Amino acid sequence: MADRATGAVAAATEGAVPPERALLTVSGLTKHYGARIGCEDVSFDLHPGEVLAIVGESGSGKTTLLDCLAQRLAPTCGTVTYRMRDGSVRDLATLTEAERRLLARTDWGFVHQNPADGLRMTVSAGGNVGERLMAIGHRHYGAIRDTAIDWLGRVEIAADRIDDAPRAFSGGMRQRLQIARNLVTAPRLVFMDEPTGGLDVSVQARLLDLLRGLVRDMRLAAVVVTHDLAVARLLSQRIMVMKDGRVVEEGLTDRVLDDPQHPYAQLLVSSILTV
Ligand SMILES: Nc1ncnc2c1ncn2[C@@H]1O[C@H](COP(=O)(O)OP(=O)(O)OP(=O)(O)O)[C@@H](O)[C@H]1O
Ligand SMILES: [Mg+2]
Repeated sequence: MADRATGAVAAATEGAVPPERALLTVSGLTKHYGARIGCEDVSFDLHPGEVLAIVGESGSGKTTLLDCLAQRLAPTCGTVTYRMRDGSVRDLATLTEAERRLLARTDWGFVHQNPADGLRMTVSAGGNVGERLMAIGHRHYGAIRDTAIDWLGRVEIAADRIDDAPRAFSGGMRQRLQIARNLVTAPRLVFMDEPTGGLDVSVQARLLDLLRGLVRDMRLAAVVVTHDLAVARLLSQRIMVMKDGRVVEEGLTDRVLDDPQHPYAQLLVSSILTV
Protein backbone atom coordinates (compact mmCIF):
# COMPACT_ATOMS: atom_id res chain seq x y z
CA MET A 1 0.00 0.00 0.00
CA ALA A 2 2.84 2.28 0.87
CA ASP A 3 4.32 1.37 -2.52
CA ARG A 4 1.12 2.19 -4.34
CA ALA A 5 0.89 5.50 -2.57
CA THR A 6 4.49 6.33 -3.44
CA GLY A 7 3.88 5.27 -7.02
CA ALA A 8 0.82 7.47 -7.23
CA VAL A 9 2.73 10.45 -5.91
CA ALA A 10 5.57 9.80 -8.36
CA ALA A 11 3.15 9.55 -11.28
CA ALA A 12 1.32 12.66 -10.26
CA THR A 13 4.57 14.58 -9.91
CA GLU A 14 5.80 13.33 -13.26
CA GLY A 15 2.64 14.32 -15.06
CA ALA A 16 2.54 17.67 -13.35
CA VAL A 17 6.05 18.96 -13.98
CA PRO A 18 5.15 22.50 -14.97
CA PRO A 19 7.01 24.32 -17.71
CA GLU A 20 9.11 27.07 -16.16
CA ARG A 21 6.74 29.90 -15.46
CA ALA A 22 7.13 33.16 -17.29
CA LEU A 23 8.29 36.24 -15.39
CA LEU A 24 6.91 38.68 -17.93
CA THR A 25 4.13 37.98 -20.44
CA VAL A 26 3.51 40.52 -23.16
CA SER A 27 0.45 40.30 -25.33
CA GLY A 28 -0.54 42.49 -28.29
CA LEU A 29 1.41 45.46 -26.94
CA THR A 30 0.83 48.52 -29.10
CA LYS A 31 1.79 52.14 -28.74
CA HIS A 32 0.68 54.84 -31.16
CA TYR A 33 1.83 58.44 -30.98
CA GLY A 34 -1.18 60.03 -32.63
CA ALA A 35 -1.18 58.61 -36.15
CA ARG A 36 2.41 57.40 -35.88
CA ILE A 37 3.17 53.82 -34.88
CA GLY A 38 5.63 53.41 -32.00
CA CYS A 39 5.25 49.65 -31.71
CA GLU A 40 2.52 47.36 -32.94
CA ASP A 41 1.13 44.06 -31.65
CA VAL A 42 4.20 42.78 -29.82
CA SER A 43 3.83 39.52 -27.87
CA PHE A 44 6.40 37.38 -26.05
CA ASP A 45 7.19 35.62 -22.79
CA LEU A 46 10.34 36.23 -20.76
CA HIS A 47 11.44 33.57 -18.28
CA PRO A 48 13.47 33.98 -15.09
CA GLY A 49 17.15 34.31 -15.90
CA GLU A 50 16.54 34.81 -19.61
CA VAL A 51 18.06 37.65 -21.63
CA LEU A 52 16.13 38.93 -24.62
CA ALA A 53 17.73 41.33 -27.08
CA ILE A 54 15.63 43.71 -29.14
CA VAL A 55 17.38 44.84 -32.29
CA GLY A 56 16.39 46.94 -35.28
CA GLU A 57 17.17 50.14 -37.09
CA SER A 58 16.71 53.60 -35.65
CA GLY A 59 13.02 54.41 -35.30
CA SER A 60 11.91 50.77 -35.36
CA GLY A 61 10.23 51.08 -31.96
CA LYS A 62 12.77 49.54 -29.60
CA THR A 63 12.74 52.26 -26.95
CA THR A 64 8.98 52.65 -27.22
CA LEU A 65 8.54 48.94 -26.54
CA LEU A 66 11.02 48.96 -23.64
CA ASP A 67 9.36 51.99 -22.06
CA CYS A 68 5.94 50.33 -22.34
CA LEU A 69 7.29 47.14 -20.75
CA ALA A 70 8.86 49.05 -17.86
CA GLN A 71 5.65 51.08 -17.36
CA ARG A 72 7.37 54.31 -18.23
CA LEU A 73 4.91 54.81 -21.09
CA ALA A 74 1.26 53.81 -21.18
CA PRO A 75 0.54 51.50 -24.13
CA THR A 76 -2.35 52.25 -26.48
CA CYS A 77 -3.48 48.66 -26.13
CA GLY A 78 -2.24 45.23 -25.15
CA THR A 79 -1.17 43.87 -21.78
CA VAL A 80 1.98 43.18 -19.80
CA THR A 81 1.73 40.81 -16.85
CA TYR A 82 4.46 40.19 -14.30
CA ARG A 83 4.99 37.40 -11.82
CA MET A 84 5.62 39.08 -8.46
CA ARG A 85 8.03 37.66 -5.87
CA ASP A 86 5.10 36.13 -3.98
CA GLY A 87 4.17 34.17 -7.12
CA SER A 88 1.04 36.15 -7.96
CA VAL A 89 0.65 37.36 -11.54
CA ARG A 90 -0.30 41.01 -11.96
CA ASP A 91 -1.48 42.96 -14.95
CA LEU A 92 0.94 45.88 -14.73
CA ALA A 93 -1.66 48.37 -15.95
CA THR A 94 -3.63 47.73 -12.75
CA LEU A 95 -0.76 48.53 -10.35
CA THR A 96 -1.16 51.57 -8.19
CA GLU A 97 1.48 54.26 -8.59
CA ALA A 98 2.97 53.21 -5.22
CA GLU A 99 3.16 49.56 -6.31
CA ARG A 100 4.74 50.53 -9.61
CA ARG A 101 7.37 52.62 -7.88
CA LEU A 102 8.16 49.85 -5.42
CA LEU A 103 8.61 47.39 -8.25
CA ALA A 104 10.86 49.83 -10.11
CA ARG A 105 12.98 50.33 -6.99
CA THR A 106 13.33 46.74 -5.90
CA ASP A 107 12.51 44.03 -8.40
CA TRP A 108 13.50 45.92 -11.54
CA GLY A 109 16.42 47.86 -12.85
CA PHE A 110 16.51 50.30 -15.74
CA VAL A 111 19.86 51.07 -17.35
CA HIS A 112 19.70 54.13 -19.58
CA GLN A 113 21.96 54.69 -22.56
CA ASN A 114 23.01 57.99 -21.07
CA PRO A 115 24.14 57.37 -17.47
CA ALA A 116 23.16 60.93 -16.53
CA ASP A 117 19.52 59.85 -16.99
CA GLY A 118 19.91 57.03 -14.48
CA LEU A 119 22.23 58.63 -11.90
CA ARG A 120 22.05 61.58 -9.58
CA MET A 121 24.98 63.49 -10.95
CA THR A 122 25.57 65.69 -7.91
CA VAL A 123 25.33 62.89 -5.33
CA SER A 124 28.44 60.85 -4.49
CA ALA A 125 29.04 57.45 -6.11
CA GLY A 126 28.41 55.78 -2.74
CA GLY A 127 25.24 57.80 -2.34
CA ASN A 128 24.00 56.74 -5.76
CA VAL A 129 24.32 53.09 -4.79
CA GLY A 130 23.20 53.52 -1.16
CA GLU A 131 20.11 55.47 -2.12
CA ARG A 132 18.53 52.42 -3.71
CA LEU A 133 19.14 50.45 -0.50
CA MET A 134 17.64 53.18 1.65
CA ALA A 135 14.61 53.24 -0.63
CA ILE A 136 13.87 49.66 0.36
CA GLY A 137 14.30 50.26 4.06
CA HIS A 138 18.01 49.82 4.81
CA ARG A 139 18.92 52.21 7.61
CA HIS A 140 22.32 51.21 8.97
CA TYR A 141 24.84 53.71 7.57
CA GLY A 142 27.90 51.48 8.02
CA ALA A 143 26.26 48.50 6.36
CA ILE A 144 25.00 50.62 3.46
CA ARG A 145 28.48 52.06 2.92
CA ASP A 146 30.05 48.59 3.05
CA THR A 147 27.58 47.30 0.47
CA ALA A 148 28.25 50.34 -1.71
CA ILE A 149 32.02 49.72 -1.53
CA ASP A 150 31.45 46.08 -2.39
CA TRP A 151 29.36 47.03 -5.43
CA LEU A 152 31.81 49.67 -6.61
CA GLY A 153 34.42 46.92 -6.55
CA ARG A 154 32.21 44.59 -8.53
CA VAL A 155 31.91 47.18 -11.27
CA GLU A 156 35.63 47.95 -11.08
CA ILE A 157 35.46 51.37 -9.47
CA ALA A 158 38.15 51.90 -6.83
CA ALA A 159 36.87 52.27 -3.26
CA ASP A 160 38.66 55.60 -2.88
CA ARG A 161 36.29 57.11 -5.47
CA ILE A 162 33.24 56.47 -3.27
CA ASP A 163 32.84 60.11 -2.26
CA ASP A 164 33.31 61.50 -5.78
CA ALA A 165 30.23 62.60 -7.71
CA PRO A 166 29.63 60.92 -11.09
CA ARG A 167 30.32 64.28 -12.71
CA ALA A 168 33.99 63.52 -11.98
CA PHE A 169 33.78 60.10 -13.68
CA SER A 170 34.49 59.07 -17.25
CA GLY A 171 31.63 57.83 -19.46
CA GLY A 172 32.54 54.19 -18.90
CA MET A 173 32.79 54.66 -15.11
CA ARG A 174 29.43 56.40 -15.05
CA GLN A 175 27.85 53.53 -16.90
CA ARG A 176 29.39 51.02 -14.47
CA LEU A 177 28.11 53.09 -11.56
CA GLN A 178 24.64 53.12 -13.09
CA ILE A 179 24.81 49.34 -13.31
CA ALA A 180 25.87 49.05 -9.65
CA ARG A 181 23.03 51.37 -8.60
CA ASN A 182 20.57 49.16 -10.45
CA LEU A 183 21.83 45.79 -9.32
CA VAL A 184 22.46 46.51 -5.64
CA THR A 185 18.87 45.61 -4.74
CA ALA A 186 19.24 42.22 -6.47
CA PRO A 187 16.47 42.85 -9.00
CA ARG A 188 14.93 39.97 -10.92
CA LEU A 189 14.48 41.90 -14.15
CA VAL A 190 16.57 44.61 -15.75
CA PHE A 191 15.65 46.74 -18.74
CA MET A 192 18.57 48.17 -20.67
CA ASP A 193 18.44 50.68 -23.51
CA GLU A 194 21.70 50.61 -25.48
CA PRO A 195 23.80 50.01 -22.34
CA THR A 196 27.07 50.24 -24.26
CA GLY A 197 26.04 52.90 -26.77
CA GLY A 198 28.08 56.09 -26.75
CA LEU A 199 31.20 54.42 -25.32
CA ASP A 200 34.35 53.81 -27.25
CA VAL A 201 35.01 50.31 -28.48
CA SER A 202 37.54 49.11 -25.88
CA VAL A 203 35.42 50.47 -23.02
CA GLN A 204 32.37 48.79 -24.56
CA ALA A 205 34.11 45.42 -24.66
CA ARG A 206 35.03 45.53 -20.97
CA LEU A 207 31.62 46.74 -19.94
CA LEU A 208 29.98 43.97 -21.92
CA ASP A 209 32.18 41.39 -20.26
CA LEU A 210 31.28 42.78 -16.86
CA LEU A 211 27.56 42.84 -17.66
CA ARG A 212 27.64 39.31 -18.96
CA GLY A 213 29.26 38.06 -15.75
CA LEU A 214 26.79 39.90 -13.53
CA VAL A 215 23.74 38.76 -15.49
CA ARG A 216 24.94 35.18 -15.31
CA ASP A 217 25.97 35.22 -11.64
CA MET A 218 22.78 36.93 -10.49
CA ARG A 219 20.54 34.87 -12.81
CA LEU A 220 19.01 38.12 -14.00
CA ALA A 221 16.30 38.29 -16.58
CA ALA A 222 16.88 41.19 -18.92
CA VAL A 223 15.46 42.95 -21.94
CA VAL A 224 18.32 44.63 -23.78
CA VAL A 225 17.73 47.10 -26.57
CA THR A 226 20.69 47.41 -28.89
CA HIS A 227 21.46 48.20 -32.47
CA ASP A 228 24.72 46.28 -32.04
CA LEU A 229 24.36 42.63 -32.98
CA ALA A 230 27.62 41.80 -31.19
CA VAL A 231 26.00 42.95 -27.93
CA ALA A 232 22.98 40.78 -28.67
CA ARG A 233 25.22 37.81 -29.46
CA LEU A 234 27.20 38.16 -26.23
CA LEU A 235 24.39 38.87 -23.81
CA SER A 236 21.19 37.29 -25.03
CA GLN A 237 19.75 33.84 -25.51
CA ARG A 238 16.85 35.14 -27.55
CA ILE A 239 16.47 37.97 -30.00
CA MET A 240 13.60 39.94 -31.51
CA VAL A 241 14.15 41.88 -34.72
CA MET A 242 11.93 44.94 -35.12
CA LYS A 243 11.08 46.99 -38.17
CA ASP A 244 8.58 49.83 -38.37
CA GLY A 245 7.25 49.00 -34.91
CA ARG A 246 6.61 45.32 -35.60
CA VAL A 247 8.53 42.18 -34.70
CA VAL A 248 9.61 40.65 -38.01
CA GLU A 249 11.68 37.80 -36.61
CA GLU A 250 12.14 36.18 -33.23
CA GLY A 251 14.13 33.19 -32.06
CA LEU A 252 17.25 31.88 -30.37
CA THR A 253 20.04 34.41 -30.83
CA ASP A 254 22.48 32.04 -32.51
CA ARG A 255 19.82 30.77 -34.90
CA VAL A 256 18.62 34.25 -35.89
CA LEU A 257 22.14 35.64 -36.35
CA ASP A 258 23.47 32.58 -38.19
CA ASP A 259 20.40 31.84 -40.28
CA PRO A 260 18.02 34.81 -40.44
CA GLN A 261 14.76 34.10 -42.30
CA HIS A 262 13.10 37.47 -42.77
CA PRO A 263 14.61 39.59 -45.58
CA TYR A 264 15.09 42.54 -43.22
CA ALA A 265 16.81 40.37 -40.61
CA GLN A 266 19.04 39.01 -43.38
CA LEU A 267 19.90 42.55 -44.43
CA LEU A 268 20.65 43.58 -40.86
CA VAL A 269 22.91 40.59 -40.24
CA SER A 270 24.73 40.85 -43.58
CA SER A 271 25.29 44.59 -43.19
CA ILE A 272 27.12 43.92 -39.93
CA LEU A 273 29.15 41.01 -41.25
CA THR A 274 30.43 43.00 -44.22
CA VAL A 275 31.57 45.92 -42.06
N1 LIG B 1 7.36 61.02 -27.94
C1 LIG B 1 7.13 60.69 -29.20
N2 LIG B 1 6.20 61.36 -29.94
C2 LIG B 1 5.92 61.03 -31.21
N3 LIG B 1 6.53 60.03 -31.88
C3 LIG B 1 7.47 59.33 -31.21
C4 LIG B 1 7.82 59.62 -29.85
N4 LIG B 1 8.78 58.76 -29.47
C5 LIG B 1 9.03 57.96 -30.52
N5 LIG B 1 8.24 58.30 -31.57
C6 LIG B 1 8.21 57.64 -32.90
O1 LIG B 1 8.00 56.25 -32.70
C7 LIG B 1 8.81 55.48 -33.60
C8 LIG B 1 9.70 54.55 -32.79
O2 LIG B 1 10.64 55.34 -32.05
P1 LIG B 1 11.63 54.71 -30.97
O3 LIG B 1 12.27 55.84 -30.25
O4 LIG B 1 10.88 53.72 -30.18
O5 LIG B 1 12.66 53.98 -31.93
P2 LIG B 1 14.04 53.25 -31.59
O6 LIG B 1 14.00 51.94 -32.27
O7 LIG B 1 14.28 53.28 -30.13
O8 LIG B 1 15.11 54.18 -32.35
P3 LIG B 1 16.65 54.53 -31.94
O9 LIG B 1 17.46 53.34 -32.33
O10 LIG B 1 16.95 55.72 -32.82
O11 LIG B 1 16.70 54.86 -30.48
C9 LIG B 1 9.55 56.49 -34.45
O12 LIG B 1 8.82 56.70 -35.65
C10 LIG B 1 9.53 57.75 -33.61
O13 LIG B 1 9.58 58.89 -34.42
MG1 LIG C 1 15.81 54.12 -28.92
